[in-house]
Amino acid sequence: MKAKLIADRRFKIGAISPYIYGSFIEHLGRAVYGGIYEPSHPEADDMGFRRDVLDLVRRLRVPIVRYPGGNFVSGYNWMDGIGDRSKRPRRAELAWFSTETNEVGIDEFQEWARRAGAEVMMAVNLGTGTVDDARNLVEYCNFGGGTHYSDMRRRNGFEKPFGIKTWCLGNEMDGPWQIGHKTAEEYGRIACEAAKVMKWVDPDIRLVACGSSYPAMPTFGEWEATVLKHTYEHIDYLSLHSYYGNDAGDTASYLGCSLVMDEFISSVAAICDYVKAVKRSDKTVYLSFDEWNVWFHSKEQDKAVEKWQVAPPLLEDVYNFEDALVVGCLLITLLRHADRVKIACLAQLVNVIAPIMTETGGRSWVQTIYYPFMHASLYGRGAALNCVVECESYTAGGRSIPYVESIATFDESSGELTVFAVNRSLDRPVELSLDFSGFGEVSLVEHIVLSSDNMKAANTADAPNAVSPSKGGAEGASAPLGPHSWNVMRYKVFP
Ligand code: AHR
Repeated sequence: MKAKLIADRRFKIGAISPYIYGSFIEHLGRAVYGGIYEPSHPEADDMGFRRDVLDLVRRLRVPIVRYPGGNFVSGYNWMDGIGDRSKRPRRAELAWFSTETNEVGIDEFQEWARRAGAEVMMAVNLGTGTVDDARNLVEYCNFGGGTHYSDMRRRNGFEKPFGIKTWCLGNEMDGPWQIGHKTAEEYGRIACEAAKVMKWVDPDIRLVACGSSYPAMPTFGEWEATVLKHTYEHIDYLSLHSYYGNDAGDTASYLGCSLVMDEFISSVAAICDYVKAVKRSDKTVYLSFDEWNVWFHSKEQDKAVEKWQVAPPLLEDVYNFEDALVVGCLLITLLRHADRVKIACLAQLVNVIAPIMTETGGRSWVQTIYYPFMHASLYGRGAALNCVVECESYTAGGRSIPYVESIATFDESSGELTVFAVNRSLDRPVELSLDFSGFGEVSLVEHIVLSSDNMKAANTADAPNAVSPSKGGAEGASAPLGPHSWNVMRYKVFP
């Protein structure tokens, strides 16, 4: 089958925010304990962080990591995780029914993020937490000194403020499963009051209010409008969360789930702009897609996990090759909304629905989804281009789905032009011709491919490279896209 991508350097969707390559670490399962932190591991550094994991994280060039939750944050008292470790309380943690030792808290995580080359995106507790707790935490993290909480931080060994810039006003507060679940009116009010005082403590911070926990929530739409009615002038971003899965065992349809993400983003942007119009505001609220990924493989096995364990194996999805193609399509969709989505967090980063896996006390390796995420993060920089993609479509799950999902990005400063493309066809190769209007001389740097004969192939500790990238056959302005494949064509543009 033939397909064509037309990209013109003059037609830009918008600047790609580096923060769309963010990720997420929650106190959940083995993300922290046995994941990023394991003092008894042979790879542990001076603070007990696993160096092997840090290396794999650094290779992703993740600029920001959301912390400490997720559902966990809605019952979390941040004071439990600071100061003398021997005095930190063990808690019955009600989001995931585990025991939280509090061995790692804000101070340690801030240091881990620094070692990973990332900023922290801190969530405050607006479930059981108060406006006071929220502003005290900003004071602890960002105030120079000479006040109760800033001096507490200094006594804990952190003389300089952490300078955390991006803050989430709670997590998924529309969900009945959330500790301290609220109506949109209740949440809108507390989010507004927390936002005000947090910014009074540090006017430089940026705030994310909670949108719906997923688009199928019965309150979706109304929730966003009501929350924005209360918070519009005090916040900078509205959150979106969504997870995808092949529950029906229908690969053709599953590969089209990025179209659902696309509609979700457009709907939330429209609601933000509706409230902007109603308020006659000059300000645009941007979108923070701060939880997205595939999540379905582990749901059955998690029902059997015994309660109240420390760091039980929860949400340990083993990702296969088709999941990597879906993650590739989702990344292209995020890039297509580069003008509006300014933060996105792959949920999560280590062991819990994660690209990086570890054995507690043992090996670490990367899952299939690691690769498309790494390629997008390394090469999807600069501006997203408004490309025309001409290709055939197929019908699955009641939708018309294009066989080729593709976008180009162009980084003016480095002259790097990159095309990302997924061929969704399960049996037909695609000959993709590339029409780079207005680019002048362009030469191919490399064509990277992720493919597998087996859609269900996965990487494991014993077979860590079962699915890994190889070299593709692009030449000049033409690229062969094998059936069911993820492709990255990198070009150098000469001035
Ligand atoms: O990422 C796992 C969980 O999914 C998060 O804790 C929650 O916010 C979402 O429902």
